[in-house]
Amino acid sequence: MKSKLFSPIQIRGLTLKNRVVLSPMLTYEADHGFPTDWHLAHYGKFAVGGVGLVFVESTKVDPRGCTTPKDLGLWKDEFIAPLARITSFVKSRGSAIGIQLGHSGRKARNSLPWQGRLPLGPEQKGVDHDEEWELIGPSAIAASAKSSTPKEMTLSDIRAQIDMWGAATLRAHKAGFDVLEIHCAHGYLLHQFLSARANQRTDQYGGSMENRMRFTLETVEHVRALWPAQKPLFVRISAIDEAGWSIEESVVLCKRLKALGVDVIDCSAGGMAEYSIASGENRPGYGYQVPHAETVKRDAGILTMAVGLIIHADQAESILQNNQADLVAIGREMLHNPNWLMDAADKLNEEGIFDLVAENYGYWLEKRASTGFKRKTSTWLHGIDH
Ligand SMILES: Cc1cc2nc3c(=O)[nH]c(=O)nc-3n(C[C@H](O)[C@H](O)[C@H](O)COP(=O)(O)O)c2cc1C
Repeated sequence: MKSKLFSPIQIRGLTLKNRVVLSPMLTYEADHGFPTDWHLAHYGKFAVGGVGLVFVESTKVDPRGCTTPKDLGLWKDEFIAPLARITSFVKSRGSAIGIQLGHSGRKARNSLPWQGRLPLGPEQKGVDHDEEWELIGPSAIAASAKSSTPKEMTLSDIRAQIDMWGAATLRAHKAGFDVLEIHCAHGYLLHQFLSARANQRTDQYGGSMENRMRFTLETVEHVRALWPAQKPLFVRISAIDEAGWSIEESVVLCKRLKALGVDVIDCSAGGMAEYSIASGENRPGYGYQVPHAETVKRDAGILTMAVGLIIHADQAESILQNNQADLVAIGREMLHNPNWLMDAADKLNEEGIFDLVAENYGYWLEKRASTGFKRKTSTWLHGIDH
């Protein structure tokens, strides 16, 4: 029987050929916000590997919102053509391509991860053309003891920001993206507005939960109005965070997002106080965020995408079989093995596993398989299996 993982799914006018999604991941290779050959090679390889939906990393709607000087941008029309080169290649291989739009707010302006991911000061020149790099946020509260204090956004800053998300949405459509995701997680700007810790405003954008949700809901409403009706809209949330945001509040938010025409909630967590990606010091179990996707799916009645330490084929399949999510997003495991799908299909006993990858590879791998040589053995050194 065909697995659920390898079954297509239709969302609005888009059919994904399987349920495997490349999770959005910053690659820190942009040049003043422009994609480079790196991005074509990087995203292209996952399409060649058969991923159903390839997400391009968090791409900023405003140069001030870049997490680092090497983030991708979508704040001006000049970005459309180089991004279109990537969407066109990915789609030519039968994969769909999405883009995550983001703004890091008070968490912008850092060095690269391998340079320590340190908050940079106001002397750091901006990403676009060495302009001043201003930090903005809902309130003048720094993200950490080491970070600079952001400027509290005025009401006209908020209006201008919503317009920037809208303009970036139109550019994403022109660049040929199939799916748009709004980054509302990991302690970045929209999440900062949701959080009673980061947002201590006394106007209509702060205080009650309704007021803290207002900026997100207005942004989503504006984006949905501009994003074509046949194209799916995703929102990534931190379903819970370290500053008291609860899964119950997420369910309330997601019901509202659904009413505004959001199709899929991408369920991540954290990032308000700590780094959001599970690593050595922060070591949860396999699929540690899957329960959030399950709760949101059940209680808000909306499609969900699960993410976080989903590594194994049978693990991914069981998430779908158990109705915990409708899509599985895979991040670092895909960096480890861009041909993860072929391996997963083999493990799930799918037919035609070599059809999953480009014929340039599949044709030869099929021939090799027909010879009966085994792959997973180290005995060749000893001449046993030849
Ligand atoms: C290098 C790197 C960059 C990331 N960049 C983003 C990003 O741009 N947007 C986002 O929402 N999450 C980002 N994440 C989080 C991933 O999308 C994913 O949620 C996280 O890595 C957990 O999934 P995994 O265990 O499959 O890697 C990033 C993670 C990594 C490792």
